[in-house]
Amino acid sequence: MSRSIADQSVEELGGPGSVLVRQRRDHVQLDRLLHQLDGTTGRAQEEVLTRIDRLVFSHAFAEESVLWPVMRRVLPDGEELTLRIEEEHQEVNELVSELETLGHDDPRRAQRLSRLVEVLNEDVRDEEDVLFPRLQERLGHDELRALGRRWDVVRRISPTRPHPTVSRRPPGNVLSALPLSVLDRSRDVVDAAVRRAPARLAPVGRLVSQGLAGLAGLVERTPPARRGDRPPTSR
Ligand SMILES: [Fe+2]
Ligand SMILES: [Fe+2]
Repeated sequence: MSRSIADQSVEELGGPGSVLVRQRRDHVQLDRLLHQLDGTTGRAQEEVLTRIDRLVFSHAFAEESVLWPVMRRVLPDGEELTLRIEEEHQEVNELVSELETLGHDDPRRAQRLSRLVEVLNEDVRDEEDVLFPRLQERLGHDELRALGRRWDVVRRISPTRPHPTVSRRPPGNVLSALPLSVLDRSRDVVDAAVRRAPARLAPVGRLVSQGLAGLAGLVERTPPARRGDRPPTSR
């Protein structure tokens, strides 16, 4: 009977560099942010949401391009296990994209936000309680550490914003990762500057940010970026 990685020691999980320990560390941070989100409104809510986005999208993108292909290779039921997670990721991408278009007083906002929190929590539980214990049965500590290094490198160069149209599987997500990451991270810098800029300069910054968003939308819709997607997660 496999035990959740939530209840195991760092040593049992393969040491500090293991992919399981690195995953759990991010999940704990996400849990903290989700608690901070609770009860916030307006600007404060937007700031916590931005921090959640920056954490979850690169984290999940690297899972989809590095970890789930390994799960499909080593587990007989890897296909259905990973598809379920990819569907959760897809829903997160769609919810955050929609939230970006809803005003603060839109009545749909509260419902979409609570669903977002729910799916993020479900995703963490599925990974920590089901997927990762299964991966742990198949890989030794050295392999878990090597996988941890690969996942971490990819996470650092992965997109930081929602991309619901891109494939949740290789090769589409891998092919589009670099251009989307450059566009997303440039937008992160521009948006941070807009928040600090004098009011008269802010519209210029917003225009640049919109331009970068438009380019990312084009990249996402190119045929190579959609290659490999499965019907439940394609849009
Ligand atoms: Fe995760
Ligand atoms: Fe995930």
